[in-house]
Amino acid sequence: MYALPKNDLIIRVGGGGGEGVISVGDLITQACARAGLDVYTFKTFPAEIKGGYAMYQMRAGTERLYNQGNSFDVFCAFNGEAYDINHARLKPGTALVYDSTANFEPDIPPGVHAYPIPMTQAAKEMGGVRVKNMIALGSLSRLFNIPEVALREVIASKFVRKGDDVVQANLAAFERGRELAVTLEKTDAWTLGVPATKRDVVVLSGNNAIGLGALIAGLEFFAAYPITPATEIAIYVAKHLPKRGGTLIQAEDEIAAISQVLGASYAGKKAMTATSGPGLSLMSEMLGMAFMSETPCVVVNVQRGGPSTGLPTKHEQSDLFLAIHGAHGDSGRIVLSVENVQDCIGLTVLAFNLAEKYQCPVILLSDGSLAFSTQSVLYPNPGDFAIVNRTRWEGEGDYRRYALTEDGISPMADPGTHGGMHIATGLEHNESGLPSYTAANHEAMQAKRFRKLEAVVDDVAPVEVDCVDDASADIGIIAWGSTIGVVREALQRLRAEGFAVKGFYPKLLHPLPAAQFEAFGAGCKRLLLPEVNFQGQLAHFVRAETTLRPESYTICGGLPFTPEMIINKVRELLA
Ligand code: COA
Repeated sequence: MYALPKNDLIIRVGGGGGEGVISVGDLITQACARAGLDVYTFKTFPAEIKGGYAMYQMRAGTERLYNQGNSFDVFCAFNGEAYDINHARLKPGTALVYDSTANFEPDIPPGVHAYPIPMTQAAKEMGGVRVKNMIALGSLSRLFNIPEVALREVIASKFVRKGDDVVQANLAAFERGRELAVTLEKTDAWTLGVPATKRDVVVLSGNNAIGLGALIAGLEFFAAYPITPATEIAIYVAKHLPKRGGTLIQAEDEIAAISQVLGASYAGKKAMTATSGPGLSLMSEMLGMAFMSETPCVVVNVQRGGPSTGLPTKHEQSDLFLAIHGAHGDSGRIVLSVENVQDCIGLTVLAFNLAEKYQCPVILLSDGSLAFSTQSVLYPNPGDFAIVNRTRWEGEGDYRRYALTEDGISPMADPGTHGGMHIATGLEHNESGLPSYTAANHEAMQAKRFRKLEAVVDDVAPVEVDCVDDASADIGIIAWGSTIGVVREALQRLRAEGFAVKGFYPKLLHPLPAAQFEAFGAGCKRLLLPEVNFQGQLAHFVRAETTLRPESYTICGGLPFTPEMIINKVRELLA
């Protein structure tokens, strides 16, 4: 069959942890991006280092991509478990590439185009099963037109640190995979179209982009305790921060990490930590301390399935309650949430700017799907970002660290500033910072600290409304985090079917831009709020802080929504 080039192709690779599935996905992604395609990936893997089901889904296209797509056009199965898990998704027209020497006999559904490749056997003949994944990669490249020159380049650069013999073995296996595919008759319709011109983009994971954003913002001190799925942020920062004169500490636990961050910030440095739900739970006392002592800090929380240890490697959006209210007493903070990798850069800069300006903790929520998702983003120019630094005391007159100012913001003095000596304590304090427990003082100080937050909504870009005109929508969808990208595509397709639908995509979740929610709600007959948690956490806050009553659509199976799920839900509601 003649295969027309596709401008939007989804390839999924599945196999056992340790079989090199993730490497295949990464290599395809890098090669497609080099060839000028937009890429958006999703990967999920077991908590075990070896064994269990690992999956990588890669979507490449010539248009802007907002999510990893519904299902796949091409599936590559390394073993029987991966085949069984994905069997139900093998629809007519799908291409299936599988290891015909991995001890499983696929029962191929009608209409599926099957390409048996003896991956294990060919790898053994070349010296070892380690290169089985390169046999698969070569076959995929030949069958679906994945740019072969770019693939050879990225294979060489991926394995160069393992030695030239490893590079050569992998390149040879890649060629062998291509040869094996040539012997098969291509019957499916999937061939990747590659654009004539390249764009100035870079491929980054969500975690790396947060690290990059922090460096652009002027990060000087980073402390963290490793935790999936946030550890890559520390790895990225460890590689780059010391070269810029900054300091990174791997703390003994999360309580130590946030304490060190507050100490560094008190000393005048821009400071940050990165963690996941269990770590954020441990940090809650010190977040109260940061608010009380008005110490700027950025805490990145990459959400994973909970509660407790939960699903360590899986996706969820279930830390919003904790992010907004996780601390004792009346404790405030700012909470932002990122939609995609591009946001991971820009909103990390914003998080630092807000922390510095309002002298309070800022929690930046990412999630398990974004953490490992690689996407093409416009090459960031650090000069394009406005950078805000804290208001410092100039050293004139009597210094009162917690002076009761109109906007609640009081200038900070770095330690060592002549006349600026002060203590920053978790105890309630007077304007000079000395302990004071009178009712009048506590009320005045609480009002001061919360007064600062009143200006935040106006300091952040208005919430994006996704609509084609001002006409009232039958359904308005409110989405946050990486669910936004799924809703964007669902709305495009629903509009093409004639539905009157709008989207609302808040990135500042606390303080909630309530007036903007109200204005959006006024233009919609019904509101739907899809989120990947059990309780409908954002819907809870929307109901509490506005007059709106969005209908919750929640899932919590460790995977993100797909556009199809949102489309079906809207069709169901409007039926
Ligand atoms: N030749 C040489 N080396 C190869 C190779 C090849 N053909 N193919 C893969 N490798 C190497 C990779 O470079 C990688 O090595 P590195 O760690 O030195 O970079 C390693 O083999 C693993 O391969 P990769 O493709 O990245 O992963 P995989 O698909 O085999 O899956 C994981 C393994 C990632 C799922 C698993 O090891 C893992 O880490 N699980 C998560 C554990 C976790 O986070 N638990 C959380 C506890 S809270």
